[in-house]
Amino acid sequence: MNKTFFAAAIFLIAALCTPFAAQAQFAKGEDAIKYRQSALQLMGSHFGRMQPVMKGQIPYDKAAIAANIAILNEVSKLPWAAFGAGTEGGDAKDDIWLDPEGFKKAQDKLTISLKALTAASDAGNFDNLRVAYGEVGASCKACHKAFRKDN
Ligand code: HEC
Repeated sequence: MNKTFFAAAIFLIAALCTPFAAQAQFAKGEDAIKYRQSALQLMGSHFGRMQPVMKGQIPYDKAAIAANIAILNEVSKLPWAAFGAGTEGGDAKDDIWLDPEGFKKAQDKLTISLKALTAASDAGNFDNLRVAYGEVGASCKACHKAFRKDN
């Protein structure tokens, strides 16, 4: 094995071992704040647009809701890596950095409620879907109450 090959192999192994979240590097704290606020905006949009269906104002289209929930599942993974050390600010309360475990638990609550929402959507039962939607909303609210300013 020559040296170049060896170095390339080490580099590849290191790259493969780097978790995705660790790649979310930001040059400045304010870049991280902008990034997470953008991701949270997308979450808000893809969560909020389902409300008229849940309220019975427009008919339940199983495929459209499932497609939207798939996007919500993806975007809901994005904000959290942008709350690293030195990124205090925006509407984020300092408690995020004082109580990282509590903040992580609030993220887990969202993940769990989104799993239930996805399952209800896959099953296509509208009543269950509405209950699961309410649970997701409650997990958004719980985190905002604890960790977002003016909530
Ligand atoms: C684990 C905690 C947590 C959860 C869960 C959470 N949020 Fe938030 N959210 C925050 C924090 C913290 C901020 C403020 C971020 C900042 O300004 O840096 C925020 C801000 C926002 C914003 C404003 C973004 C902006 O433009 O400044 C929206 C919209 C939003 N959240 C929607 C949602 C929705 C919808 C859900 C549920 C589907 C949700 N959030 C779940 C913590 C959370």
